[in-house]
Amino acid sequence: MRMAPRGSNGSGGGTKLLLCLLLVACTGAAGQGLRVGFYQQSCPDAESIVRNVTWPAAAADPSLAAKLLRLFFHDCFPQGCDASVLLDGRGTEKAAGPNLSLGGLEVIDAAKAALERSCPGTVSCADAVALATRDAVSFQFGRLLWQVETGRRDSRFSDEADGTKLPNPEYVFPILRDSFARRGLGVADLVALSGAHTLGRTTCMFVSPRLYTFQGNGGVDPFIEPRYARELMGQCTSMASANRVVMDPGSEFAFDTSYYRAIKANRGVLLTDSVLTHDDEAARLVDEMQDLGKFLAAFAASIQKMGAMDVLTGSQGEIRRNCRVVNY
Ligand code: HEM
Ligand SMILES: *[C@@H]1O[C@H](CO)[C@@H](O)[C@H](O)[C@H]1NC(C)=O
Ligand SMILES: *[C@@H]1O[C@H](CO)[C@@H](O)[C@H](O)[C@H]1NC(C)=O
Repeated sequence: MRMAPRGSNGSGGGTKLLLCLLLVACTGAAGQGLRVGFYQQSCPDAESIVRNVTWPAAAADPSLAAKLLRLFFHDCFPQGCDASVLLDGRGTEKAAGPNLSLGGLEVIDAAKAALERSCPGTVSCADAVALATRDAVSFQFGRLLWQVETGRRDSRFSDEADGTKLPNPEYVFPILRDSFARRGLGVADLVALSGAHTLGRTTCMFVSPRLYTFQGNGGVDPFIEPRYARELMGQCTSMASANRVVMDPGSEFAFDTSYYRAIKANRGVLLTDSVLTHDDEAARLVDEMQDLGKFLAAFAASIQKMGAMDVLTGSQGEIRRNCRVVNY
């Protein structure tokens, strides 16, 4: 069941929560009002303006694609892709525990500043994030990997409690599957989008429990391939370690299929990566994703779907002038 486009969110989260309760499934209007080329008339250069900021930044910082991809996920998953994650301040999503080490915000600021110079008050921060993410991930291919539907508007609020609605890296498969299902994302989306972990790093905080206190019993997760477990223990030396480990060893910056080979070999770094091989349907999809063409196509489809979840369109929300603060 899909919810009608929600009204102006000026009244805050209470109304939204109530609507969600009344409608049971709160998956939102799946991208009604979004379309490719939304700014064709109002800001014809919008996409190249963002790309002209993002590609040089990606050339200078090989970890940018990881940062933006995670930022986009954190924006979309809790309350829809509405740039709520970009808002500064106490009590916002950014201030929630799982936001840890969010990056790439300066690139969004730079893209938005360039957009405002050419087309003041026209292109939303939410769209800037969606476009910059696509561009940063695409940079290494020298072509755009997916089309971005645009027309999102920016929310006027952000709630720390929403940041905690992100999936926990210690979820077992059924819980993980349900957390995606609640957002209208199926197992195929879960498997394809998890492929984002072919990029980037994780703080040991999310890994050490698997090494030292697995399910509270003081041991190591028996599903981790033993040599890999020892490798991880060398990098996350205790429960208190603040190191960051590569999620897809040997291929940290390449957007490729090695993540799927790793999890098949029981070398997934987070529990939520490993458990994708503990379910028949997911495991079959993991096998399929070993093919780069299939992975790129599946990822494109699923990130478009994620990018359309619960968006604000039409006259909802606003076009923020500065992505870090709501307009006043
Ligand atoms: C399936 C549920 C997911 C869980 C439990 C999860 C959890 C995590 C955790 C714990 C980290 C490490 C954060 C840190 O310590 O810095 C991380 C990193 C990352 N996640 Fe996820 N994630 C999930 C899905 C996704 C999705 C759907 C995307 C994007 C489509 C994504 C993109 C990333 C990226 C790119 C990084 C690396 C960031 C960097 O190195 O800067 N994740 N994720
Ligand atoms: C983007 O960069 C290209 C190459 O430098 C340039 O030709 C183009 O005019 C730029 N586009 C915009 C909108 O700034
Ligand atoms: C994330 O939240 C922490 C508090 O939990 C805060 O100290 C940090 O500045 C936030 N990170 C960003 C990028 O806002």
